[in-house]
Amino acid sequence: MGANHVGFIMDGNGRWATAHGLSRAEGYAYGLIALRKVAKRCEERGVKAVSVYAFSTENIARPTDEINAIFGVVEKFNLTYDGRFKICYMGDFSTLPDKLADSIESVEQRTADNEGMTLNIAFNYGGRADIIHAAKIAYDHGEFIEDTFEKNLGSSRLPALDMIVRTGGEKRLSNFMLYEAAYAELFFLDKLWPDMQESDVDALLEDFEKRTRKFGK
Ligand code: FPP
Repeated sequence: MGANHVGFIMDGNGRWATAHGLSRAEGYAYGLIALRKVAKRCEERGVKAVSVYAFSTENIARPTDEINAIFGVVEKFNLTYDGRFKICYMGDFSTLPDKLADSIESVEQRTADNEGMTLNIAFNYGGRADIIHAAKIAYDHGEFIEDTFEKNLGSSRLPALDMIVRTGGEKRLSNFMLYEAAYAELFFLDKLWPDMQESDVDALLEDFEKRTRKFGK
């Protein structure tokens, strides 16, 4: 069976930029080019949803210039996107600049009826915070069972997560989709995110199909 839902931890944009004599800020613009390429290839290969880690709650500790660069790339993307994906976001938008938060709402609304693959963007997102948020809602409703809990996760409307791919050489999840990762197949690439090509997506999806998934059975 092919993968329905693939998560990407898009690591290595800063290192890629430095290696090419560019600013780290420019690295994120190239990161977005890679994201468009990767997402398009996933859709062509039958993937139903792609989730990407674009900004973690911990990233806020980065230098202001770098944060502004990421926010700028994402805001521009939201305001100009006119493709066929359904764009949705998960994370805490309450502390984001108003213009950025508005751009998130606008792209979600504009693309809600699109026919293409879902591109889910984790932004100002943390896996633990998402779990705690879902648990609090379930608790408040007095229905603390797996089903009602899962309905309140950021990923609740997406298919089960089949794979997580991390580029950039590190072998950890860094607070990305921790609950959903339970039975996801993990892939770690040394390649830096802006170097990702269609052929990398093909190889990952083919590798996934060869894996035997047991779900604990
Ligand atoms: C980690 O690379 C990546 C990020 C902190 C952000 C990635 C965001 C993008 C590629 C923009 C995507 C755009 C949209 C619209 C979703 P890093 O900077 O930590 O790389 P390093 O490990 O080389 O320093």
